[in-house]
Amino acid sequence: MYQIKTFNAIAPEGLQRLNKEKYAINESDEPEGILLRSQKLHDYPFPKSVLGIARAGAGTNNIPVKECTEQGIVVFNTPGANANAVKELVIASLLLSVRPILQGAQWVQTLNGSDVEEQAEANKKQFAGTELEGKKLGVVGLGSIGAMVANDAYRLGMEVVGYDPYVSVDTAWTISRRVKRANDLAEIFTTCDFITLHVPLMENTRHLVGKNELAKMKPTAKLFNFSRSEIVDTAAALAALDNNEIAGYTTDFADERLLGHDNVLVLPHLGASTEEAEINCAKMAARTLKKFLEFGTIKRS
Ligand code: MLT
Repeated sequence: MYQIKTFNAIAPEGLQRLNKEKYAINESDEPEGILLRSQKLHDYPFPKSVLGIARAGAGTNNIPVKECTEQGIVVFNTPGANANAVKELVIASLLLSVRPILQGAQWVQTLNGSDVEEQAEANKKQFAGTELEGKKLGVVGLGSIGAMVANDAYRLGMEVVGYDPYVSVDTAWTISRRVKRANDLAEIFTTCDFITLHVPLMENTRHLVGKNELAKMKPTAKLFNFSRSEIVDTAAALAALDNNEIAGYTTDFADERLLGHDNVLVLPHLGASTEEAEINCAKMAARTLKKFLEFGTIKRS
């Protein structure tokens, strides 16, 4: 049996549903390993017994990775395990950005009388949209999520251009016939109708999209952020929206500055919030930690 401490927050499913017996996991306050979802571990006083941490998710920004590494604690994530869930939400958001589905559905609820259908038919013009087919999508970051978004957008008839300096051979293979590679980020920002960000938060990706990149965008272009809030300089995005330099911003990260703003869709970090993704991530995290404790342990001094 492996001694584990499980931290969980936000997720509706996943770690709670993990069959701990199957992974030989025993809950303990003197753990060898930590399994966690979205809880922040920055203030957690890691007991000396901890050797590894596995996060059920892609991002590791809720873990003090540098301090853990310095102490000899190995940090794992679950790459790809929730990619399909995030991809589906990105595609839904692209569609929502061109078809006022939410607004139309909200409006129809305000109608009353015996002629609701006639009223709807007579006024529906205000909710007319446009189509994604034939429009150009820029995908920044071609990891598991970015590559899946690129492939599905292509299948929807979009022209797809991608940028990532570190594309893996596997990814290159799955996207090569569908995605044109941009020479640099500037090409994405100057030429695309929609730009979607799929990069991890690191020192060199913080504010990857700031005033300069936003200024390059077409005034009709829309930006989508399902990576991390800090990848985009929110103040600069708001200024670009206010000055009509860009046409829309969809973000999966709540920030009070964005609330109530026209042409902004703010979601409460729903990217990976599906039952399937929660379970995939929980299983991968538990499997990884078990393997590490079984075969890869480095004793901490
Ligand atoms: C991730 O890091 O895997 C995603 O942002 C999803 C999440 O944490 O809920």
